[in-house]
Amino acid sequence: MKILVIGGGGREHAIIKSIKKNPQVEAIYCLPGNGGIAMDAFCVDIKATDLEGIREFVKGHPVDYAVVAPDDPLVLGCVDMLQDMGIPCFGPEAKAAIIEGSKVFSKDLMKKYGIPTAKYETFDDMEKALAYLETAPIPTVVKADGLALGKGVIIAQTPDEAKAAVVSMMQDKQFGKSGERIVIEEFLEGPEVSVLSFTDGKTVVPMISSMDHKRIGDGDTGLNTGGMGTVAPNPYYTEAVAKRCMEEIFLPTIAAMNAEGRTFKGCLYFGLMICADGPKVIEYNCRFGDPETQVVLPLLESDLLTVMQAVTEGRLAETEVKFSDKHACCVILASAGYPTSYKKGFPIRIPADVLPSVFIAGAKKDMGQLVTSGGRVLGVTAVEDSLPKAIESAYAMAQRISFEGAYKRSDIGARALKAVQE
Ligand code: AMP
Ligand code: GLY
Repeated sequence: MKILVIGGGGREHAIIKSIKKNPQVEAIYCLPGNGGIAMDAFCVDIKATDLEGIREFVKGHPVDYAVVAPDDPLVLGCVDMLQDMGIPCFGPEAKAAIIEGSKVFSKDLMKKYGIPTAKYETFDDMEKALAYLETAPIPTVVKADGLALGKGVIIAQTPDEAKAAVVSMMQDKQFGKSGERIVIEEFLEGPEVSVLSFTDGKTVVPMISSMDHKRIGDGDTGLNTGGMGTVAPNPYYTEAVAKRCMEEIFLPTIAAMNAEGRTFKGCLYFGLMICADGPKVIEYNCRFGDPETQVVLPLLESDLLTVMQAVTEGRLAETEVKFSDKHACCVILASAGYPTSYKKGFPIRIPADVLPSVFIAGAKKDMGQLVTSGGRVLGVTAVEDSLPKAIESAYAMAQRISFEGAYKRSDIGARALKAVQE
């Protein structure tokens, strides 16, 4: 089989490394991929959002199955296009990807179907939003409706900060069209849990839970990033919480999307807050998380491609999806200065015995040498029998990878460890 993967980060590298384990896979194409993914797939420099470029590529190459990984091509209808070309795909159609593409849509969906989430109001008029903030409780969360590279959420600690966020989104158009409509919502407290799930629109199978570390600094301080590390499973996701999530969130969401004529097939990611009065949805993503995938897939014992095909063909109920009972920890190495400005082009050294555990995100080949080309450069994942061992091994491997200015958090997994020990 010849497989096409759309995307080019650490998540796609993890997906490709898992897919490669299937003996039926003869070739994997990755658009655009990156210099590290090129060790495992044939990369062609066509952007994930360049639907016309992807169409042309597919016309010239035999592709038996496609995986569309990032949010923007999904929201743009990449799966719809590939399906129309006769290619079976993993990923939702555009009409279902809207669950991530529009926060107004997802909030209204949850309200309509009684799925627990933060209380909210939506606005397309800036004056009304500013007037509402006069009486809104603080902290207040201001969210751009559309995709904003993960930066469209502002947690305002004062009314002035909230107003500034509204003005920057609606008047200054910081996120372009994505901020024309906004959601203002209640601030929720509690540990966060990421649950990625496989769903074919009939059955939903949660993957092993995980915990992201979004801030740049130790102790969850500093600016938000694309994610500085992950652990799986997440100790806050107890069996009792999992049962409530299935009954109150996962199954109702699948049913709601069906009732709206927007059947979701693919990976539906539930970003959850475990609040004192129960689990609530912080956000839905229409795709695998990054860097959650880098800890979840190494724990998947079943064959990924087989499960993905079962999702596409609506056979998920009859398909085994088994996870190991081990623990995984992924530590991200970023360029100094990320998430603001950083230099690129530094040679990366990875010992051969560590390479199988590495997922490359921001690197390219420059005259045969792998060099940094992005903010988050790579992630390294350890799988061990216990969480402390996984953390220790991941850091031991990270220590042996080098490039100039490499930055990593030193406390990935510390909060999870504390939860286990409490
Ligand atoms: P999102 O882009 O929706 O993933 O939001 C980014 C991050 O903002 C989440 O991972 C949460 O940590 C935080 N967040 C979003 N909504 C809320 C909320 N209502 N209350 C507290 N934190 C939130
Ligand atoms: N790690 C968060 C995300 O993928 O959106």
